[in-house]
Amino acid sequence: MANRDSDKMTQYAVELEDTVHWDQEMSYGQYLDLERLLACQQPNSGQHDEMLFIVIHQVSELWLKQCLHEAHAAAEHIRENKLKPAFKMLSRIARIQEQMIHVWEVLVTMTPADYTCFRDSLGQSSGFQSYQYRELEFLLGNKNPRMVEVHRSHRQHYERLTQVLHEPSIYDISLQLLKRRGFDIPDSYVKRDWSQPYQPCAEVEQAWGEIYRHTDEHWDLYELAEKLVDTEYNFQKWRFSHMKTVERIIGYKRGTGGTAGVSYLAKALDLQFFPELWSVRTAM
Ligand code: HEM
Repeated sequence: MANRDSDKMTQYAVELEDTVHWDQEMSYGQYLDLERLLACQQPNSGQHDEMLFIVIHQVSELWLKQCLHEAHAAAEHIRENKLKPAFKMLSRIARIQEQMIHVWEVLVTMTPADYTCFRDSLGQSSGFQSYQYRELEFLLGNKNPRMVEVHRSHRQHYERLTQVLHEPSIYDISLQLLKRRGFDIPDSYVKRDWSQPYQPCAEVEQAWGEIYRHTDEHWDLYELAEKLVDTEYNFQKWRFSHMKTVERIIGYKRGTGGTAGVSYLAKALDLQFFPELWSVRTAM
């Protein structure tokens, strides 16, 4: 048995020696720009747990970047009536969201005592200032012009967020699709000031009701509705887990960003991206 194992190891070493491009020009580290990426974790306090805090935020921001990449492309595909590729992208977003939700399980290993050791070194920085998170909220339909103001001092982020605020959300684009398919969507829902918060509408709920009652006739729109619900459902799970993690770590202290903390996060649970996709369930 031992001989067979050592034979395998020798074979492995020989194969490696013969096949690997030991002197390749483009290396893994170069392609991924790893030196820069791995230089971005710079704890301020020297406390052990600050590294985890930084890594978890950075991992979440990378996933947010990928969600934005997918969500913008999905919106564009819906606009062009290409639902199948849009579904693939929305499914990918749902998988990424699962990763982002699971991350809290790692963060809860950090106790209030661990966090208190370095909290002062964060100053006023807070996830509240995450411009990618806010862009994703805008793109999904939670429009709030006030939220752009936090970014006024950074021109690039401010302009980007202002632009997305004024563009139709993925839900607005879906309602335009419903209108093209002959559903009775009011004109004021396919052309309006997109920067203003979405107001629920009886005709929109009726349109989704029609789709849910006659799934065979409207299968792709039914599938679109469920993909959107998946996205919102996961977003809410993320919000809820964030809130409970924050409660577990800082209790009812104010946030570093200046809000009331947990009670602010609890209120965000009432926000909805696609209200009629929820109310239609009661109406059915
Ligand atoms: C110890 C860990 C954490 C604590 C204590 C914490 C605390 C808070 C608090 C109190 C707020 C409310 C705003 C404020 O006043 O600061 C907030 C907002 C936020 N946090 Fe965290 N957070 C933690 C981890 C994270 C992580 C890992 C992320 C991932 C990116 C994150 C993303 C956000 C976002 C996006 C908001 C804005 C939510 C909204 O406006 O609806 N947080 N956080």
